[in-house]
Amino acid sequence: MVTITFHGHACFTLEADGRRVIIDPFLTGNPAADIPVDRLPKVDAVLLSHGHGDHLGDAIPIAKRDGATVVATFELAAFCASQGAASHAMHIGGGHRFPFGHVKLVPAFHGGRVEGDTAGQFTTSPCGLVVTIGGKSVYHCGDTALTLEMQLLSGRVDTMLVPIGDNYTMGIEDAVRAVEFVRPRTVIPMHYNTFDVIRADPGQFKRQVGDRAQVVVLAPGQTHTFS
Ligand code: NI
Ligand code: MN
Repeated sequence: MVTITFHGHACFTLEADGRRVIIDPFLTGNPAADIPVDRLPKVDAVLLSHGHGDHLGDAIPIAKRDGATVVATFELAAFCASQGAASHAMHIGGGHRFPFGHVKLVPAFHGGRVEGDTAGQFTTSPCGLVVTIGGKSVYHCGDTALTLEMQLLSGRVDTMLVPIGDNYTMGIEDAVRAVEFVRPRTVIPMHYNTFDVIRADPGQFKRQVGDRAQVVVLAPGQTHTFS
């Protein structure tokens, strides 16, 4: 049994077998967040798709508070380590087994600046994450354009977390094509309606996906459980 909780924007927690990880923990300053950091339950790890402020978010304070490991690309992990957080460096194409499950970093086409890195020393490639937890695979696309690389995941993903907000990432049309490429059982839209510039209608996304996948639209604070 895997429980996915949406915390607004691109932030999710994944729980299985008594372990909990958080992805892209942008809570402070996130107008869509359902909880403040001090009410976030303890996590075992903080997984990051990239270093923009709306994804790196509260990663460092959460990791320090919980003794959790930040899992990210080499450069972003090095930045987090420079700020005093425990970190595990990986890179795109690589996978690693952790106590909570397995993480593989996959390509994403987006920007690589790290929020708070004033010297530009830790610029990195953004990524998507394929997290295997509780025997199920969850693909968090990160911030990305539609990419042909997504086809490499075809049939290997149970639940896909896909941006639909346009402007900075895929919009609805490309997100539907991403679902065609990946063929997940279930897809949950993200990265929309947090700010005016990424307004999108998840109902329209659901209609356009049609019978290609089960679309689960989560409001911040809502949970999807599957096995
Ligand atoms: Ni971004
Ligand atoms: Mn973003």
